[in-house]
Amino acid sequence: MKKKIVAFAGSNSSKSINKQLVRYVLSYYDDFDIKFLDLNDFEMPIFSVDREKNDPFPEKAIQFRNEFETADAIVCSMAEHNRTYSIAMKNILDWCSRVDLNIFHEKPMLLMSTSTGGYGGGNVMQLAKSFFPRCHADVIETFSLPSFKENFTNNTITNEELKKELETKIQTFRNRII
Ligand SMILES: Cc1cc2nc3c(=O)[nH]c(=O)nc-3n(C[C@H](O)[C@H](O)[C@H](O)COP(=O)(O)O)c2cc1C
Repeated sequence: MKKKIVAFAGSNSSKSINKQLVRYVLSYYDDFDIKFLDLNDFEMPIFSVDREKNDPFPEKAIQFRNEFETADAIVCSMAEHNRTYSIAMKNILDWCSRVDLNIFHEKPMLLMSTSTGGYGGGNVMQLAKSFFPRCHADVIETFSLPSFKENFTNNTITNEELKKELETKIQTFRNRII
């Protein structure tokens, strides 16, 4: 039976560059079953402690974390807004963390970020690198792609050095999950 990768981008943009990066990486795993989660399918009320007290958890929060139960691996890429997660991502993380901090079920994760800036979402990467393991992700590899518009064209990374770096990580991750 094929192994299963559950993938998502930390963005609700229809033109998300992080989605494009995740799709690019998934093209190296075409022998896997792929499930791509779109954050737009997990839109919930803004988290509040009052809502948490008065209402049941949103069904979508429970669904989001359940998606990782059947995964053999997770591939994701975080968008950076004002040096942190996009609000779409943060809201999901807040709700899910209240359902159970074990969001990612100890599954191996390839964690990425990209942005239009030269730091490639390095701030959100630092946050996710330290927080996702607390959410029970087994972060195996990390990669940040800087200056997306300069380094990614026609569905591929055009900077050879960065492409090689990512390909090495893709292979290490594959070895870990097969
Ligand atoms: C509200 C907002 C805040 C942003 N803040 C940052 C930032 O702090 N650092 C950065 O590198 N890019 C920042 N950007 C630019 C994003 O990297 C860019 O919009 C990127 O396309 C977001 O990823 P996405 O396309 O996957 O949603 C910001 C963009 C928006 C709309």
